[in-house]
Amino acid sequence: MRVVSGIQPTGNPHLGNYLGAIKRWAEMQHQTECFIFLADLHAITVYNDPKELAATIREASATLIACGIDPDKAVLFNQARVPAHPELAWILNCTARIGWLNRMTQFKEKSGKNREGSSVGLYAYPILQAADVLLYQATHVPVGEDQKQHIELIRDIATKFNTDYAVELFTLPEPLIGETGARIMSLRDGSAKMSKSDPSDMSRINLTDDSDTVAQKIRKAKTDPEPLPGDWDALGERPEARNLVTIFAVISGRTPADVLKEFEGQGFGTFKPALADLVVETLRPIKARLDQLLADPAEIDRILVTGSERAAATARPTLDGAYKALGLPRY
Ligand code: TYM
Repeated sequence: MRVVSGIQPTGNPHLGNYLGAIKRWAEMQHQTECFIFLADLHAITVYNDPKELAATIREASATLIACGIDPDKAVLFNQARVPAHPELAWILNCTARIGWLNRMTQFKEKSGKNREGSSVGLYAYPILQAADVLLYQATHVPVGEDQKQHIELIRDIATKFNTDYAVELFTLPEPLIGETGARIMSLRDGSAKMSKSDPSDMSRINLTDDSDTVAQKIRKAKTDPEPLPGDWDALGERPEARNLVTIFAVISGRTPADVLKEFEGQGFGTFKPALADLVVETLRPIKARLDQLLADPAEIDRILVTGSERAAATARPTLDGAYKALGLPRY
């Protein structure tokens, strides 16, 4: 078993990223070999200020470490330091079909009405993601629900390459999507996912928010006047309530049913302060560690350079195998 997953370094990681992905990576690194990276080449599919990007990558890396990713256990790196990623992505551009990309819902969401004005990179984004995973022969890719379609595409690309060139080069990866917490919703709208790109900062809890901000965001989170039921199915039509109970459950390592048993019959006047305490206590040590780490940016760079060297060495044989399969001389 080998795990690969990544996160875009732009914008503060939020509670959705943490519960849907980062927390699970930190747990998995104790069980198996994990390659965790900052998807900085994905970040440039939209304009990013070059004066800020290096600092943003460092901050996102520090956040992952503060959340428990241990660079001595997991291989932590950034894509831009491993040229095999864009190199394999080009090769896979020639395998993936335009029709496959046209089905990707994330591109439709991200490009919106500005499809023609979007970068080609934004369109081809899932192919770079395929390279990220296939380079390492990943067997499992722990992600939130929104990445499921991209992982399925990776399997299609791998299968077509292996078949076209009659090789067994690429391992077909499985998405690992958590049973609970794979889709944390906005605090302002239970039908939209919590997202870095939501214009309202009140819609998400950033991992860097201080305790007062976290408590205020939870206090102001949209809910309804009904008390909590004792049974999960009874929350069916109440997406905001479902979301808050889900957050409580994932953070405390309990099932939503168990949380509801405790709060049955209680209103949000009781539930929200309990949830706020829980989130504040979870984020407090993360924030403290993050501040410590950011005081030594050179150390973070050293960690990323070391991780990138390890990643590059692992990726190499797969990239060589791809050139060989294609009949392209390299040396
Ligand atoms: P990104 O940066 O949008 O998100 C990083 C991870 O967080 C998960 N996530 C969520 N989980 C639960 N609830 C939410 N509201 C929520 N929002 C985000 C995402 O599913 C993801 O697992 N394309 C990827 C980065 C990437 C990647 C890869 C991932 C690039 N190459 C290869 C896996 C494998 C992305 O933009 O994630």
